[in-house]
This record gives sequence, structure tokens and C-alpha cells, in this order.
Amino acid sequence: MEKTFLMIKPDGVQRNLIGNIVEKFEAKGFKLVGAKLMQISDSLAEKHYGEHKERPFFGELVEFITSGPVFAMVWEGEDVIKTGRTMMGETDPKEALPGTIRGDFGLTIGKNVIHGSDSPESAEREINLFFNQDELVTYTKQD
Ligand code: CMP
Repeated sequence: MEKTFLMIKPDGVQRNLIGNIVEKFEAKGFKLVGAKLMQISDSLAEKHYGEHKERPFFGELVEFITSGPVFAMVWEGEDVIKTGRTMMGETDPKEALPGTIRGDFGLTIGKNVIHGSDSPESAEREINLFFNQDELVTYTKQD
């Protein structure tokens, strides 16, 4: 079954949005198979956002994501990568539709509440960056 990596960013944690966001993914029918509240190191942030290394906002991105704890999660379910991104809304909260996470809770492109993998390849890479295999669980969930 498909898995994705989702991370509630420091702004989302500080604004008490963890429960609300987890509830949306549970209600949708996805299965939570890994989760932890963690402080990201500079080196993990630089690896995670490696593809943006040449962007002018790279320094800002690393500074923000390491500015406080994040809530890292692995969710499982049919088409969870694509559907999860639809639930998150556009990267820029100004473009994100009401009803989406960024549309409802985000204000700026930097502090946009949540990150989600954008492809099966990035999901695999990001899950392995943030989680050891023994931190992920297998169980049967009631529909
Ligand atoms: P995320 O999905 O975590 O992946 C890369 C992040 O870069 C993105 O969310 C935004 O928060 C951030 N980002 C993209 N464009 C800009 C920008 N122009 N200025 C600051 N941050 C940006």
C-alpha cells in the first residue's frame, strides 16, 4: 500500500494544529503508521530540502524548519500521496482553496503549516530520512 511522509511545520505545532490535521487524515480513511514530535537538525533539514539548495530562500527554509519542533508522520492508503497533497492545498496559502489545510490555516509561502511528499520517489526518500524501519508499524484499521 502507498505511503507518504507528512510533516507539520513549526508554525503548525506552535498554533496547536496537530490534532486538527491528524483528524482530517484519519477521517479521510488514511492509516497513521508512524509519528513523532522532533527537533530537526540543520543537517537533516539541508538533506530534506536538498533539491532547493540553489534557491534564494534556501537559508530561510532551513532556518524556519529548525526553529522549533515539527510533527513528522507516515500515512498509508490508496493514492495517499496525491490525495494528501490535495488535502494540503497549494504550496502558497494565498492560492490554496478554503477547506484545504493551507487554505484554512496558512498565511505565507514560508510558514505554510505542512509539508507532504510530492511523488513516490520523494515519499520513499523522505520516510527513510526521518524514520527508521522499526519506527513504522503494521496493523489492521477499521474502515
Ligand atoms: P514545502 O512543501 O515544505 O517544500 C518546499 C518549501 O519551500 C515550501 O513548502 C515552501 O514553504 C517553501 N517555499 C517555496 N517558495 C518559497 C519562497 N518563494 N519563499 C520562501 N519559502 C518558499
